[in-house]
Amino acid sequence: MVISRTESGIPGLDNLINGGFIRDSVVLVTGEAGTGKTIFCSQFLWHGLKKGETCIFITLEENPEDIKEDVKTFGWDFDKYEQKGLFRLIYHDPAQVNNLGSVIIDEIKSLKAKRLVIDSTSLIGMNIQDVSQVRKILYNVINVIKKSNCTALITAEIPEGTKGLSRFGVEEFVVDGIIVLNYLEYAAGGLDRSLIVRKMRRTDHGKDIYPVGIGPKGVTVKPVE
Ligand SMILES: Nc1ncnc2c1ncn2[C@@H]1O[C@H](COP(=O)(O)OP(=O)(O)O)[C@@H](O)[C@H]1O
Ligand SMILES: [Mg+2]
Repeated sequence: MVISRTESGIPGLDNLINGGFIRDSVVLVTGEAGTGKTIFCSQFLWHGLKKGETCIFITLEENPEDIKEDVKTFGWDFDKYEQKGLFRLIYHDPAQVNNLGSVIIDEIKSLKAKRLVIDSTSLIGMNIQDVSQVRKILYNVINVIKKSNCTALITAEIPEGTKGLSRFGVEEFVVDGIIVLNYLEYAAGGLDRSLIVRKMRRTDHGKDIYPVGIGPKGVTVKPVE
């Protein structure tokens, strides 16, 4: 059986994952702050919009206007698509996560969305003391997305200097794939970005640490020399 794939929109990535993300799968994009998660996910949606797919970006973190302004530097004008009703960038209050699953489903249905981004799942636990409750909500939200007919990227923050892939250790077990973004800082002031495909179900994926650049056109994965 041929597996349908969704192009990532990240130059250099699809040839490492058999042509793209499995259609309707959920992929975790994780990394420390500033590693490029939000740009990566915006680029994935921008690519979908260019191909005529409707897309939704749900942010629990940043002001939608700030995100739109930031990505304009890459030439991605989300407003244009939002005005045509083909795209939506929604802020969801991380203090009100009990209804997050149903909000996601309603949005996907109303736009018949093909691509979805949730940025960042780590904020889901912000106002909840009970860690088991946070895990339950996370598990629920991801399963809701998995059942939808939408290819989704969700982000998580790796707390600085820790070895885990997410704050609450739920996302990595439930998702279909995991992309880890990293950077190494050099004393001379340099910054070396890299990407690892940590998990990708039903995919013979690249196993190296790939150099990554963020430039005028967004994120690019470079081949290993
Ligand atoms: N126009 C640009 N050109 C090159 N690098 C950029 C540009 N805009 C942002 N960056 C880099 O991307 C980082 C922010 O990426 P972002 O996706 O917001 O990270 P995260 O969501 O992982 O915290 C910045 O700290 C900067 O290093
Ligand atoms: Mg971010």
